[in-house]
Amino acid sequence: MNTTVLARHAQNCSLTSSFTLIERICARWRKNGETSTEVPLTRRALITGITGQDGSYLAEHLLAHGYEVWGLVRGQANPHVARLRKHVGDIKIAQGDLLDQGSLISAIERVQPDEVYNLGAISYVPMSWHQAELTAEVTGMGTLRMLEAIRVVSGISASRTPGAAQIRFYQASSSEMFGQVSETPQNETTPFHPRSPYGVAKTYGHFITQNYRESYGMFAVSGILFNHESPRRGAEFVSRKITLGVARIKLGLATELKLGNLEARRDWGYAGDYVRAMRLMLHQDGPDDYVIGTGRTHSVRELVELAFATAGLRWADHVVTDARFTRPAEVDLLCADPKKAREQLGWEPTVAFEDLITMMVESDLELLARSDRPDDEPFSPDHW
Ligand code: NAP
Ligand code: GDD
Repeated sequence: MNTTVLARHAQNCSLTSSFTLIERICARWRKNGETSTEVPLTRRALITGITGQDGSYLAEHLLAHGYEVWGLVRGQANPHVARLRKHVGDIKIAQGDLLDQGSLISAIERVQPDEVYNLGAISYVPMSWHQAELTAEVTGMGTLRMLEAIRVVSGISASRTPGAAQIRFYQASSSEMFGQVSETPQNETTPFHPRSPYGVAKTYGHFITQNYRESYGMFAVSGILFNHESPRRGAEFVSRKITLGVARIKLGLATELKLGNLEARRDWGYAGDYVRAMRLMLHQDGPDDYVIGTGRTHSVRELVELAFATAGLRWADHVVTDARFTRPAEVDLLCADPKKAREQLGWEPTVAFEDLITMMVESDLELLARSDRPDDEPFSPDHW
């Protein structure tokens, strides 16, 4: 086991934080029934939203770095856990819901994490108009509840600031906060003008994270991530809806694909690249916010052309525009300026847009062609 002595940990923290740290370490010992003076060096992470796209990639990434990974999972028999376990086996589960403050406090007390990644959210923008209040509660207030859980369990207050060994917090902020953009490309100082209840809720989560950093000295950071996709992307998002649609048409399971606004432009990257940036942000000397994106923008139309061409199809023969998939207020253009992340985190994307879409089309062709295809995979994206 990777171990070291308690004294080495204590040296790493300020006087005010030592007591909290020692309490946390002792709690781990008590829980594990250990009496030795040696304590694990393994870092422990708690991920909310672990059953989502980013949660699975982040769990894999942290496990590869030797972490003990816990996921916060809601519901008494969440069906997404089985899907997650196909990708990532070695994770531990803590029950909890971003709507329930007590459950988050219990989860922090039980897991005693070094790092918390708050990825849980209602993340599908159109749903946020249909369930605006729920979106505000989960995506916005959920961030406050998780910060409060960390603050309360760590004993942090206006007069008791955290030390170097405090729990570090990552908030999944979004380029949707830029909304109707005032400049292109967008960087960390670009003003926010969110265009959906989702964007508004994320903006609240972003500012409350900054506020806890400024009010209590917490190591709380936000990653302002632009759109990122993968073969694990939810079928409701446009990239996966298109690649699944292409696969269905190619295999003779459908003849057309209904879409909304083809002229919207996004900065699309690969999810596996973006979770690396999350961890890097929590491993800086001080907390700060970073824009993460590729710096290249493409229209939905370009994505469609590329995806159909990859399968040897003519998109114009199959794509139908349908007003049901347009939005009450659209974000027309997103394009990141990731200079700060490149210079300060050393972060670079490794998968280009063309390779990403090719990867997704090939994955969906393979998935839908399988005779033993799993019945929890989405095969009928027409109603989104
Ligand atoms: P996703 O696939 O939609 O996953 C969302 C996760 O949130 C799921 O694990 C879901 O769990 C969980 N969740 C929903 N309601 C919850 C609640 N009440 N309590 C606890 N967990 C709850 O999202 P993603 O693409 O991985 O994105 C991860 C995060 O990054 C989200 O916060 C998203 O808004 C943000 N973000 C994403 C992108 C992107 O392009 N992917 C860009 C910027 C920011 P269940 O299994 O229980 O439903
Ligand atoms: N979903 C969807 N379905 N989008 C469509 C469709 C369609 O049939 N037709 C056109 N679009 C356009 C949308 O209008 C939008 O402009 C663009 O495709 C991208 O839509 P989504 O893939 O649903 O993503 P998003 O940009 O709204 O939100 C995603 O990225 C955000 C970061 O900018 C989500 O992952 C958010 O959670 C994330 O914060």
